[in-house]
Amino acid sequence: MNHKSSPVTIAVTGAAGNIGYAILFRLAAGELLGPDVQVRLNLLDIPDAAQALEGVAMELADCAFPLLESVNTFSDPVRAFDGVNCAFLIGARPRTAGMERADLLSANGEIFAPQGRALADGAADDLRVVVVGNPANTNALIAAHHGRGIPRERFTALTRLDHNRALAQLAQATETGVGEIEGVAIWGNHSASQYPSLEFATVAGVPALEVLKARGKDHSWVEDEFIPRVAQRGAEIIRVRGGSSVGSAAHAAIEHMRDWMSDEPVETSMAVPSTGAYGVEEGLVCSFPVICEGGEYRIREGLELGEFSKARLRASVEELKAERDTVLSLGLLA
Ligand code: NAD
Ligand code: LMR
Repeated sequence: MNHKSSPVTIAVTGAAGNIGYAILFRLAAGELLGPDVQVRLNLLDIPDAAQALEGVAMELADCAFPLLESVNTFSDPVRAFDGVNCAFLIGARPRTAGMERADLLSANGEIFAPQGRALADGAADDLRVVVVGNPANTNALIAAHHGRGIPRERFTALTRLDHNRALAQLAQATETGVGEIEGVAIWGNHSASQYPSLEFATVAGVPALEVLKARGKDHSWVEDEFIPRVAQRGAEIIRVRGGSSVGSAAHAAIEHMRDWMSDEPVETSMAVPSTGAYGVEEGLVCSFPVICEGGEYRIREGLELGEFSKARLRASVEELKAERDTVLSLGLLA
């Protein structure tokens, strides 16, 4: 991809929020597209956050970033998404006391359906979308459904943070650097049901499960310690830090988008509309191991999953189906 001729327009929703604040300065500094590409930032938040959003735009101006062509603030997604090449959909309705899961899906459907339509109205042909706002997979499903005319595969959700968490835990358990690790994968939903898999992972070229076994960490360590630690890390951060992941989420979102645009092959995990791979119902936005190359991603196919992996994937996909069925019954996929 060569964006050098004109600035790349990046939209960030929830731009007055915490992850917004952690991601915008990095985008403006050129961390997504490199040192030769001018960036135009379109910041979207709700009207109540307009003043805070203005303050963020003022701070971005005060950095005098050489690559920052312009910053514009919006409360209307149609205007914010006009001509957009990359969209980080971060803003979402948090769960509040007394809110049932269906209420949360309904409140978020009301955000992501109009945003999908607004993207269909005016986004650029090479649009790429990553949904960060939770429940991220199902919010991406809703946005993709309403983004009529945009190829579905352009709508993805973030499980790169889970992938990075899995890398960090494995590196720690095997006392190696994360750079020595390959083949870790996140399967399923960005939720506690996700399946962080070490089945095909290697550490310095040796199967990770063998390296772990040599350190006295067998299947029960994987099942009882590694998987829950990765899958429940978001809740652990909330408990320990007193707020949900912000810096690590912003970092993961940049890596997700940057690798998607990479010319060179990169193996990672992304939640993407299923093609039917591994028996996952077509269209569900599910995390898979993917290979990014030439500005596209493809699901890494042909892995022979063992029974344990199949069962874990199935359980997380059941949760995705239940979320999909709830939004269907709420009329959000009409
Ligand atoms: P935050 O509450 O600090 O900010 C959210 C922002 O979104 C607020 O400024 C709010 O006004 C805005 N917003 C709400 N509705 C909007 C709408 N319709 N349009 C535009 N903006 C809107 O939250 P945060 O810490 O920045 O987190 C944002 C989301 O990211 C949450 O849903 C959180 O659960 C999720 N998250 C996902 C991951 C992941 O790995 N997928 C990791 C961390 C957090
Ligand atoms: C995370 O994985 O850190 C977040 O999705 C947690 C949350 O509920 O915001």
